[in-house]
Amino acid sequence: MLIRPRETGDQSEWLRLRRTLWPDCSAEMHAREMEEYANHPGTRALFVIVREDGRLGGFAEVSVRDRVDGAMSARVAYLEGWFVEPDLRGKGMGRKLVEAAERWAAARGLTEMASDAELNNAAGLKAHKALGFRETFRLVHFLKSLKLLIAVVALTGLAGLAQAASGLFRIPGQ
Ligand SMILES: CC(C)(COP(=O)(O)OP(=O)(O)OC[C@H]1O[C@@H](n2cnc3c(N)ncnc32)[C@H](O)[C@@H]1OP(=O)(O)O)[C@@H](O)C(=O)NCCC(=O)NCCS
Repeated sequence: MLIRPRETGDQSEWLRLRRTLWPDCSAEMHAREMEEYANHPGTRALFVIVREDGRLGGFAEVSVRDRVDGAMSARVAYLEGWFVEPDLRGKGMGRKLVEAAERWAAARGLTEMASDAELNNAAGLKAHKALGFRETFRLVHFLKSLKLLIAVVALTGLAGLAQAASGLFRIPGQ
């Protein structure tokens, strides 16, 4: 088994592993995100575990983010995805993936690496701490769709936009 950077032939195996790690991610989103790694090699990198039979057994995706809460530097390496298939876990392969990502980041002059894991992912949290990550914040992310508002504006034109904006700034009772 070896760990190496992304090669063009990795696409289908990489996608298979991504689907396992992020089952809720749409096919379009996978394709869009994977394209970023080919198009922006200066700010994104992929490292993979290659099994004896040529299949992939895990990956680490790393990017450069402009701002990360809790970080001291303006540009920070970010561990976007970290996955090792169950039969290979606990053998040090996950650590080697992150070390490869760290070397990539250090070679670009980045002095910090950040990451995240879901609150209920106890193993993921422990593995991060074992690798030297310290916990900074616990956040709840929110998302709200603006599609309905966009549809209203599209139907009613600028008048609708003005009305929607005035609704935003209306003070109750006035
Ligand atoms: C997290 C993950 C990538 C670790 O891969 P791995 O190959 O098992 O990791 P390693 O064997 O290299 O272990 C790295 C360190 O983490 C620790 N660790 C790994 N899994 C652990 C677990 N389940 N519980 C406690 N510690 C754990 C190891 O003890 C090791 O520390 P050590 O070297 O000081 O002993 C793997 O478990 C995985 O793919 N999990 C599902 C996806 C995930 O949760 N990703 C991370 C958050 S997005």
